[in-house]
Amino acid sequence: MAAPTTSKPDDAFSLHSISQDSAIQLGEDPSLHAGAFFAPAEPHLPPDLAQDAHDHGAEQQEQPPQDDPFDDAEDSGFDSGSLLGDETDTLASSIMHYRMENGRQYHAYRDGAYWGPNDELAKEILDFAHHMYLLTLDHKLHVAPIRSPQTILDVGTGTGIWAIDMADQYPSATVIGTDLSPIQPEWVPPNCHFEIDDVSLDWTFPLDHFDFIHIRELFGCIPDWDFFFEQAYAHCKPGGWIEIVEHSVEPICDDGSMGPDHFFHLWGKTVVDMGNIFGKSFTIWAESKARMEKAGFVDVVEVTYKWPMNGWSEDRKLKNIGRWNQLRLHEGIEGFMLRLLTQAGGWSVPRAQVFLAEMRKALREYKTHAYLPGTVVYGRKPLRS
Ligand SMILES: C[S@@+](CC[C@H](N)C(=O)[O-])C[C@H]1O[C@@H](n2cnc3c(N)ncnc32)[C@H](O)[C@@H]1O
Repeated sequence: MAAPTTSKPDDAFSLHSISQDSAIQLGEDPSLHAGAFFAPAEPHLPPDLAQDAHDHGAEQQEQPPQDDPFDDAEDSGFDSGSLLGDETDTLASSIMHYRMENGRQYHAYRDGAYWGPNDELAKEILDFAHHMYLLTLDHKLHVAPIRSPQTILDVGTGTGIWAIDMADQYPSATVIGTDLSPIQPEWVPPNCHFEIDDVSLDWTFPLDHFDFIHIRELFGCIPDWDFFFEQAYAHCKPGGWIEIVEHSVEPICDDGSMGPDHFFHLWGKTVVDMGNIFGKSFTIWAESKARMEKAGFVDVVEVTYKWPMNGWSEDRKLKNIGRWNQLRLHEGIEGFMLRLLTQAGGWSVPRAQVFLAEMRKALREYKTHAYLPGTVVYGRKPLRS
């Protein structure tokens, strides 16, 4: 990868050490959702994009399908004999047999279900986003008015960074983080646990159980949001809260500085289209409130926020968030889009890398005052349903 052309914003933070943790034993159920749809001609590259695309691996050829998807698996150094508490079993080794694809490492359990890699770079990008959410929410981990929660669920926890912080903030609570990938650290607060689980299936937690259910950035991950919120409702305690934090993938602009032909329009449309082909939409940020109310939650509140595409804003807070966003996107878009573009879109790797290079170029342009809108939506399960 090329040296980043963006530097880390000033308020650099330290990331928790990321190693592996154990989880529940699960049977294998490989389900590949992706298929090839179209493979347009290779584009002609301007020199700067050609260099960027080359630096980010455009010369790499797509790998032929493998008979054994685990042949190229990489050992992450995880001790498969590790245990997590009393109520869990050893981690099935198949969960650790990650899939390597175009130089990136992806989860193995429910192979193909999620668009993002789970390698070190991907984990770092998730933790950048966590930092950006803290900046956005003025260092709060949640907005919902929860009081002394005892049971907290973080659905699709990623590196577990939010769950760990919540466990520290509420030491009398039990915090459970679930994910397809066992990428959470080993050393966590004693009241924090991680489990490997697919949230798009029936939830196996007790009914009426959680005081707080947290969802963040599950865009492009959920095939049926109505079913998802029904599950969340059933497993939320009466009087308990749910909160979902999501952002748009389509940059917009309020002052006319992003013309109709700006690359950001093509970027946003492409991501949304790829999500639709993949069968998991990226537009939940705008739908959360209505969907939550439809599931039965009450007192639903939507809070909006903006993530500028770089440090163009004169507002101090937005400028800082924008600088983080520029870095996160510059380094993260390969992970966000490579699988979607090549598997869902059927693009060649070189074509995808050129598209990513175009985006990195747009991110370095300060005259365009674009941003990603986002929402934090929270609501309560009534005491009597
Ligand atoms: C964009 S990341 C967000 C991670 C975390 N919520 C955060 O905000 O830092 C999405 C996460 O959801 C997980 N995920 C995707 N589909 C899932 C599924 N069906 N069941 C459980 N986890 C899933 C991915 O493995 C990934 O860690």
